[in-house]
Amino acid sequence: EEASTATTGGPRRRRVLVFPIPYQGHINPMFQVAGLLQDRGFAVTVFHTHFNAPDPSRHPAYDFVPVPDGLPAGSPGTVAATVEHIFAINGSCEAPFRERLAALLEAPGGRDEVACLVADAHLLTLMDVARQQGVPTLALRTGSAACFRNFMATPMLCDKGYLPVSAESQLDAPVRELPPYRVRDLMAVTSSRHEHDLVCKLLARAVEAVSTSAGFILNTFDALEADDLAATRRDLAGVPVFEVGPLHKISPASSSSLLPQDRSCLDWLDAQAPASVLYISFGSLASMSGEDLAEAAWGVANSRQPFLWALRPGLARGAALPDGFGAETEGRGLVVGWAPQEEVLAHGAVGGFWTHGGWNSALEGACGGVPMLCRPCFGDQMGNARYVEHVWRAGIALDGGVLERGAVERAVRRLMRSEEGEEMRGRARELGSRAAEAIAEGGSSRHSVDKLVNHIMSLWK
Ligand code: UDX
Repeated sequence: EEASTATTGGPRRRRVLVFPIPYQGHINPMFQVAGLLQDRGFAVTVFHTHFNAPDPSRHPAYDFVPVPDGLPAGSPGTVAATVEHIFAINGSCEAPFRERLAALLEAPGGRDEVACLVADAHLLTLMDVARQQGVPTLALRTGSAACFRNFMATPMLCDKGYLPVSAESQLDAPVRELPPYRVRDLMAVTSSRHEHDLVCKLLARAVEAVSTSAGFILNTFDALEADDLAATRRDLAGVPVFEVGPLHKISPASSSSLLPQDRSCLDWLDAQAPASVLYISFGSLASMSGEDLAEAAWGVANSRQPFLWALRPGLARGAALPDGFGAETEGRGLVVGWAPQEEVLAHGAVGGFWTHGGWNSALEGACGGVPMLCRPCFGDQMGNARYVEHVWRAGIALDGGVLERGAVERAVRRLMRSEEGEEMRGRARELGSRAAEAIAEGGSSRHSVDKLVNHIMSLWK
């Protein structure tokens, strides 16, 4: 639109700052938000940690400001370590971010251009820094609206005795205040008191980050989560909520994948029959034991279903696929390290998705009209699996305990080759159509993007 620099005498350039938390499932939606704001005439500056730094050459239109984080390379391996990692990012980036933001604001035209900072909801300390310098903040949560309700409800759930969990037998109790969750689906469910306290603190900080912000952005859409969105609005009274998802379908962003995506699998998919392939991926952080990996592999092999497996290096802490698996599935399966997942799930040959149930994956699966087999590991994944199975009725949850090849084989057959699976596929396709409507001209998410843009313009002094 009318973007131009002050020096040319044209209209003022408006700029948004973004700061993702550096994990793949959070980086993608943040770049997608940046993409849709740039599309509406905003210049974009990306603040980022050295840890999992984005590649600026892939986004030539953006400015990048690295913020030293002093963190070791390598992703944290446990829930407690991930939470500590998030706190460490907040702590170690605080001073360098303050300096770099001040420098940007003090540069010629700097303060004049900047409209707001859009930061991940897990970056409370950095949002405080921005507000202290007069920059309004918007919080992006990369999970579902239902999940954020779970964040907000956690102190109440602790008061009511749902949490912390003291006995196995509590896990299947329904959470009456947050249907259809059971205790086992909650964010802060853990058998360790230490982990419970850490997770509760993490959730409380995210709720504070959202409630003290000038706006809240969610990667979801009205038809998918109408009730949870209405409840979120009610509970957040005063903070405008913008549901602009599915972001991967609405944003013109280029890929922000940290790992190189093996695109050859798209050619392989082209040669497969419609809706015949099971796509398997457990996202960017989840891990499984070598035993689970072997059971998963034999379950898939024994189902005799064609499959594409994005087997991330490090998924099973060094364990490889079992001997004989390759020979057994020859001609029927393809294993790659990392796939162009959004395109894979939109491909007509893919008829089912075995996922860990990360929110991006669940949304990408639903938008691709693909029913899901969910094997949640941690965090919001249990709750997402519950929604996939119970609310969307577009998949099967494979939760609890160790994996067993017979159970995997049966679940794959049920998903891919049963009448019930066909019904799930029908409901998934229905969700895909609703998503397409939401982002089309006149759709709810389109409307939300317009409101978001207007809101950011109103913050721009
Ligand atoms: C985790 C949580 O589970 C998620 O719910 C939370 O909101 C963010 O952190 P992650 O494990 O990375 O996320 O899973 P997910 O949310 O599904 O995101 C993974 C992303 O990586 C997706 O956008 C997916 O398209 C991409 N991906 C995955 C690839 O590009 N290639 C692959 O092979 C696998």
